[in-house]
Order: sequence, then C-alpha cells, then structure tokens
Amino acid sequence: MLHLQSETSARWLAQVDAHLNDILIDHAHCEKKAAGTALNLIFAYVEDQELCREMAFIVNEELEHFQMVIDLLHRRGIRFRRLTPSTYGRELNDLCRKQEPDRAVDRLLIAGIIEARSCERFHVLAGHVKDQELAAFYAGLFESEARHHTTYTRLAKHFASEEVVMKRLDELAALEAAIINRGEELPRMHS
Ligand SMILES: [Fe+2]
Ligand SMILES: [Fe+2]
Repeated sequence: MLHLQSETSARWLAQVDAHLNDILIDHAHCEKKAAGTALNLIFAYVEDQELCREMAFIVNEELEHFQMVIDLLHRRGIRFRRLTPSTYGRELNDLCRKQEPDRAVDRLLIAGIIEARSCERFHVLAGHVKDQELAAFYAGLFESEARHHTTYTRLAKHFASEEVVMKRLDELAALEAAIINRGEELPRMHS
C-alpha cells in the first residue's frame, strides 16, 4: 500500500528513546514542510484542477497537523525551535528530474514517498512508545498520511502513463530505502 522498500530499523528507535523531544520538534517542522510542498505544487501546476483541489485539502490538513504537534509540544513544556534538518528531504529532492513532465511526476512521487515513510514511522512510533498520549497521537495520524501518499501517486498519473509512473515509483522507492537505511547522526523523524 505504501510502496516502501524497507522497514524502519531498531537504530532509529534507539534515537527515539535517547532524543524524543528533538524528534517531536522535527515532526512539527515536517508537517510545516508538508504544507509548503503541497502549496508549491498548486503554484507550479495551477491548470490541473484536481491537483489544485487535492493540494488545497492537503495544505489545510498538514497545517492542522502542524498545529496539533506544536500544541503537543506546548503541553509538554518543549519549546518549538529551529533545528538543522536531516538530509533526507534534500537527498530525495535532488533525485527530481529537471524537464517537464518528468519533473511533475518526480515532485509528486517524492512528496508521496515522504508521506509513506512518515506514515510508516508514525506506525512504528505508536507501537514503540510507552507514553499513551503519544501512542494515540501517532496512531491517529497514520490514516491521513497514508491517504496523502495515495493522492500524490494518483496525481502523478496526470503527467505520465500508469506504467511509467509505477516504474518510476519503484526506482525512487529503492533510492529512498538506501537513503533511510544509511541513516544519520542527528535524531530526526527521517534519520
Ligand atoms: Fe501530516
Ligand atoms: Fe501528509
């Protein structure tokens, strides 16, 4: 369903256990970036009415998630602050081809893969943390991020055939798996 080619490892869960607050702050940044990505896609492909409608919906939903996370931080007395981002998003965006309509396909598929990975990590987190409020919070976000993945993948088919899109999704998912499996030092949602 999520088209991912790897599962989150124990290495990331060790980072979660040691640096939960940083992961929560980074999560707020991820939701903000997700809203920004959807808004940028409206600017880029304004002629595509279905894309505009779906992206407007996602922008609102991601901003709502952002609010939920900063409220959660506030309740826990964790100050929301700037963080050095993980290199995950940049490395994935570097895979984006430059020429249209390939670029549109890649932007949508990469956005969808990031949604899928977030979704997988929320699921893993919900099962891992002892804290009941956090477990329920992450279990509650799973459904919408899975739906976002499906929406992005469907919209990519406005710019290439189903066969071409699914083949490219396979390629990008394999590259994503290599990036996330390598991991990074900074404890982040996608480290
Ligand atoms: Fe979200
Ligand atoms: Fe999302």
